[in-house]
Amino acid sequence: MIDIKKIGVVGAGQMGRGIAQVAAMSGYQVCLYDVDADGLQVAINFIQQQMGRGVEKEKWDQLYVDQTMGLLFSTTELAALSDCDLLIEAATENKKIKFEIFKQLDEIAKKDAILATNTSSISITEIAAVTHRPENVVGMHFMNPVPVMKLVEGIRGLETSDAIFDAVEEVSLRMGKTFIKVNDVAGFAINRILMPMINEAVYAHYEGVASVEDIDIGMKLGTNQPMGPLELADFIGLDTCLAIMEVLHEGLGDTKYRPCPLLKKYVSAGRYGRKSGRGFYEY
Ligand code: CAA
Repeated sequence: MIDIKKIGVVGAGQMGRGIAQVAAMSGYQVCLYDVDADGLQVAINFIQQQMGRGVEKEKWDQLYVDQTMGLLFSTTELAALSDCDLLIEAATENKKIKFEIFKQLDEIAKKDAILATNTSSISITEIAAVTHRPENVVGMHFMNPVPVMKLVEGIRGLETSDAIFDAVEEVSLRMGKTFIKVNDVAGFAINRILMPMINEAVYAHYEGVASVEDIDIGMKLGTNQPMGPLELADFIGLDTCLAIMEVLHEGLGDTKYRPCPLLKKYVSAGRYGRKSGRGFYEY
């Protein structure tokens, strides 16, 4: 079994900071990387605040917070990740950006390091193909908010080796997550199902079936979901939802995956949801 001691996380946005927090809480040494020094500081402060809340709620004690924060380092130098056993990329959901990052990681990471991506829809096989170690490239798709959601969707690229897939399953279990095994097809399993539901909710509103609020209330109370689909879309980010629908539409070629024009319009207008202060709701 491959021994993982140090994890590098690439990207300190809402997914990256959550992955870094959970990894450190599970006893791994963690190095969180981002090009943006201010963004990194915001992420570290957020993790510190989340850990502090846990003490207030008596979920853990201050000693555990200190131990966790002591395992967590941040850097704006990609080369600082060169001694990591596992690198988890959680950058923007954009093919060009991810390909560029994987080319760089392949150069700086040690020879046997695992290169994982938290992509929610981009092909693992395609990402792997830009590296010289496609057998070491794998999908580890965490859900948002990472510390709360209990799933990791494990995605096997065409060349991913069994040993690498087993190693990331082991890491996910140590992080307290349940690991599901999924093949590399557009949208994988979760977003193949979740995004068409969200897109259909946008269509329902666009076609005047019901108001934003009533769609969400209906789905919350009628199907026992913690958030209605439009509230969830705002939470995930409308730009991310659109990017995933486009991957489904292009990758599976079926018109049933056509992104709703209203979703496109909101993204064009900069209404990205919670992160921009406005989506289907105002924040
Ligand atoms: N980071 C860490 N912890 C958080 C958090 C965050 N951002 N937001 C909430 N929490 C924690 C709270 O601390 C609280 O913990 P305790 O119960 O231990 O005290 C718990 O979550 C519940 O929080 P709240 O009481 O404040 O709020 P809530 O009951 O309304 O729950 C929610 C919030 C957990 C986000 C819930 O609404 C939910 O489960 N929503 C659905 C989330 C979902 O579907 N995520 C998947 C999105 S799809 C995806 O991520 C994949 C993709 O590729 C797009």
